[in-house]
Amino acid sequence: MNNGTQSTDYAEVTERQRETWGTGDFNEIARQNVIMAEALCAAADPHPGQRVLDIACGSGTAALVAERRYCEVTGIDYVSGLIERAKTRAQANGQRIDFRVGDAQDMPFPDNRFDVVLSVYGVQFVADQEQAARELLRVCKPGGKVGLAGPIPEGWSGDWFAAHSRYASPPPGVQSPLRWGTEEGLEELLETDVLSIENEQRTALQYYRSIDHAVEVFSTYFGPTIRALEEIDPADQENFLNDLKAVMRRYNRATDGTAIVENRYLQTIAIKK
Ligand SMILES: C[S@@+](CC[C@H](N)C(=O)[O-])C[C@H]1O[C@@H](n2cnc3c(N)ncnc32)[C@H](O)[C@@H]1O
Repeated sequence: MNNGTQSTDYAEVTERQRETWGTGDFNEIARQNVIMAEALCAAADPHPGQRVLDIACGSGTAALVAERRYCEVTGIDYVSGLIERAKTRAQANGQRIDFRVGDAQDMPFPDNRFDVVLSVYGVQFVADQEQAARELLRVCKPGGKVGLAGPIPEGWSGDWFAAHSRYASPPPGVQSPLRWGTEEGLEELLETDVLSIENEQRTALQYYRSIDHAVEVFSTYFGPTIRALEEIDPADQENFLNDLKAVMRRYNRATDGTAIVENRYLQTIAIKK
């Protein structure tokens, strides 16, 4: 795991990462996140009328879930195309949500604004993790809840990101998103400002027509996979795609030629001091 350094140019890394997440169409991948967003919202349990923030909301999946409880919901993401998509989804459903373009490391909200702050496979991907942790705690009310769902080092998502790192190195000086998927990492990031941290490993199933289809979905729509394919030597592209298929196969529980991939992830509920 990479350790962040003082000399890392987080602004430059953030800009490159923003371009990566703006590549492809994350909304197509987000269908697999609905189940995690539902579970996280049930665990954080915002009540009607409470203010909820979905950080790094992508096309708005967790925000849409929270609004169904008649919460006052805001969603923020730094990819404008995804925020546009989130607005379109909300409008199609007749849901009113304040979706904004913005950076999780520097959010345009006052201190103690939200009763519940959520992030599903979102804040884990920021460049400066300490700064993002400070921000998410700053905007949460004392006694409010922070709910996170994210990748863990072991299991599908750990293997998936490891396969990417073997071919396209992550930016130097930036810590792995998997740090948020460990108890030690979460304690380092949140401990000083929380009363408690409760972690639960859960399994979300991802459904595809086949293993080939699963990898095709990611190589067509998932920014980090598309970028890795662009960066690596053409001679290695086939090996990379084969490695991705092997990861999908390792966690596939279907026996009928389709793919039902078990994704173990960490769900965290922390209470702010
Ligand atoms: C794996 S996607 C998850 C999106 C959404 N939470 C979902 O579950 O569908 C990661 C998201 O994090 C966003 N993101 C990463 N770093 C960010 C940052 N520093 N500020 C705002 N958004 C960020 C990306 O733009 C992308 O939409």
